[in-house]
Formats: sequence, structure tokens, C-alpha cells
Amino acid sequence: MVNADILDLFQEKDFLRICAPMVRYSKLPFRILAKRNGCDLCYSPMIMADSFVQSAKARRNEFTTCTEDSPLIVQFAANSVSDFVNAAEIVVPFSNGVDLNCGCPQRWAMKEGYGAHLLTKPEIIHDMVRQVRNRVPEHYSVSVKIRLLEEDRKTIELARSLEFAGVTFLTLHARTTQERHSPIHEDSLREVCQSLKVPLVANGDVKSLKGAERLHAETGCKGMMAARGMLSNPAMFRGYPTTPLTCVQDWINISLDLETIFNCFHHHLVFMMEHIMPKEERRIFNSLKTKSAVLEFLEKNYGITYEPGKSGLSSANDIIICDKSSVREEMSAGAFFETTVQKDESYDDTLDSLGGLYN
Ligand SMILES: Cc1cc2nc3c(=O)[nH]c(=O)nc-3n(C[C@H](O)[C@H](O)[C@H](O)COP(=O)(O)O)c2cc1C
Repeated sequence: MVNADILDLFQEKDFLRICAPMVRYSKLPFRILAKRNGCDLCYSPMIMADSFVQSAKARRNEFTTCTEDSPLIVQFAANSVSDFVNAAEIVVPFSNGVDLNCGCPQRWAMKEGYGAHLLTKPEIIHDMVRQVRNRVPEHYSVSVKIRLLEEDRKTIELARSLEFAGVTFLTLHARTTQERHSPIHEDSLREVCQSLKVPLVANGDVKSLKGAERLHAETGCKGMMAARGMLSNPAMFRGYPTTPLTCVQDWINISLDLETIFNCFHHHLVFMMEHIMPKEERRIFNSLKTKSAVLEFLEKNYGITYEPGKSGLSSANDIIICDKSSVREEMSAGAFFETTVQKDESYDDTLDSLGGLYN
């Protein structure tokens, strides 16, 4: 793990290009792809802090990294100070920062006191940040990802209190917990940014480098975080309007060298190629069931073949887990994908609806 100081990173650039935390998707192979295609900083998917602390199996399944996977922020969902602190202590040697998810609006999370529910308990978030800050090294980043509160004044109050508690930076998904697909509130981003000394990262509908540059100019935010935009085009921060085939080739080499399971391997290709493939071709591609069928299809239609070893990574030598035994990454099947994308052949805009998986 490179000992990158996240605060230094913010100072080196006009704004940081950031790959968002994404359950099931922002895992190790995708983070490597993102880094090699213009991202400055990547997040792990949200990990449940309590099971991560209690179970070696959860640690093996939920988190893998490698030397190249840096700078990296590990995001946790926690509803107690002790879970967040204990989980953070485990990942310190393997990452450059921890982040607390205070943005997840899903019903289960709200009910259990995770994610956006914490926005109603600012004193708990404050305490979590303060206590983690006291237990991790000074250079190690502590951050929180929040959503807008009903009034900017309240968001600013919360942001300032977290600054006071010792966050390294904050991320603001510029929608309220109730809002789903409405346009983001750029004015609020500007207001919150201006009221903080720590850097603010903007999130919501960042889909291209031009869009990121514009939002940076409009709001002054020091980071631009993209989720669906990155899935759809992992080279977006390089300025490409759609995924270049070189990026698809990179994904084939990285994900297969790291022995990524089929669903993850295939889902990412489906997202990346949504705007490259004509509709009929996409219908066939989306329903493929094996790695060899996917490779055959890509070779025939795009001249892309797997080049073993070309990524420079090896599942046997390079993957690090925060446990003693060495295992490969495992990924869950992706219920959303199976129920919605594969079954609906006329499905036209996969990624716009993908937000439904998390939002
Ligand atoms: C598939 C998917 C998974 C997500 N998982 C997480 C997560 O683990 N943690 C989190 O804070 N936000 C998560 N989000 C929300 C995104 O990080 C982001 O806040 C939201 O999608 C808005 O950004 P966008 O417009 O760039 O997609 C997820 C979003 C998607 C689409």
C-alpha cells in the first residue's frame, strides 16, 4: 500500500477525479481499471462494519486489495461508534482512509440506523468521526459521505460540526434523502463548499470530464465523484465520451488475470458497452452465460481477445486480504441485474435504472 496522504492529493490538483463507492461494483478489479483510466482516488463498496469486525469470512469476502490499489478509501456502514472504530483499525494497514456512509437511503438501512438515517443523529456521526480520528494515524484519512438536509443551513451546520470533529474531507451527494433522480442542487454544493476549510467532494450526475470541470468551476468543490458515469464509461475522466475499446481490453485482462467471477466480469462489460453496441447485439451479449461465450463474442465482433498476464497482476501473487489465509475475491450474483437487465430484453437504459439498486 502506497502511503498516500489524501490531503496532499487534494492540493496537487485542481480537483480529484474519484470513483464512488458502489456495492458489488467498486471492487478490486474495477478499481484497478479506474486508476489505469484516469481516476485519482477509488472507494471500496460499502462494507457492514459489524460483520466485518466479527467475521473472518466477511473480511475475506468483502475486502481485497493489492499494492497498485492505492490511494484507496474503505467505506463502512455502521450504526455504532465501536463498530466503526474497530473496523477502521482493521483496514488501516491496507488503505489510505475510511469513510462513513451517511447517504444510503434504502429502507432496510434507514430502519437499522445505517446510512442516511444517521443524518437525523448528527451527534452520533460527530462522535464516530472524533473517536476514529483519535485511533488512526494522523496521515490516515477519515471522511463522511452525506446527502443534503432539508435546509442548506442545516447541511452547513452538520458539515462544520464534522470538520470540527476532525474529518479530512467530506463528500456531498447533492440530493436530499427523499430525492432520487431529480437534478442535483448545485447552489447547495457551492454554499457548503464555501463554508468549509476541508475539501468538499461533489457527487451526483457527474458523467463526463467536461461535466466535472463545469461543476468544479461552478461550485469550487475539490473533488468530483462519479458512480453510474464510471460504470458506463470507466475512462470518462480521461475525456472519452463513451468507453474506448482499449478500456474494454484492459477490463478483460485485469478481471480475468484476477480470476473475477462471471457475474462481475459480465455486468461490467454490459454497463461499459451499453452505448457502444447496437440494440440487437446488446440483447444477445447481455444474455451470455459463460466467460468463454463472452470472449468468443468480443473476439468476433470487436477483435478483442484475452491476453493472459498482460495486466501485470496475478490472482495467486498480488491479492491481499486483511486476514491470514489467502483467498480470491468472491462476488454476489447481483439480484438487480438478474431480475431486471437480463430478463427485460427491451431494457434500454440500464444505468439510469441501476440507481434503483442503491438509491
Ligand atoms: C450500483 C450502485 C451502488 C452504490 N453503492 C454505494 C455504496 O456502496 N456506498 C455509497 O455511499 N453510495 C453508493 N451508491 C451511490 C453512489 O455512490 C452515488 O452517491 C449515487 O449513485 C449518485 O452518483 P451518480 O449520479 O454519479 O451515480 C451506489 C450507487 C449505485 C448506482
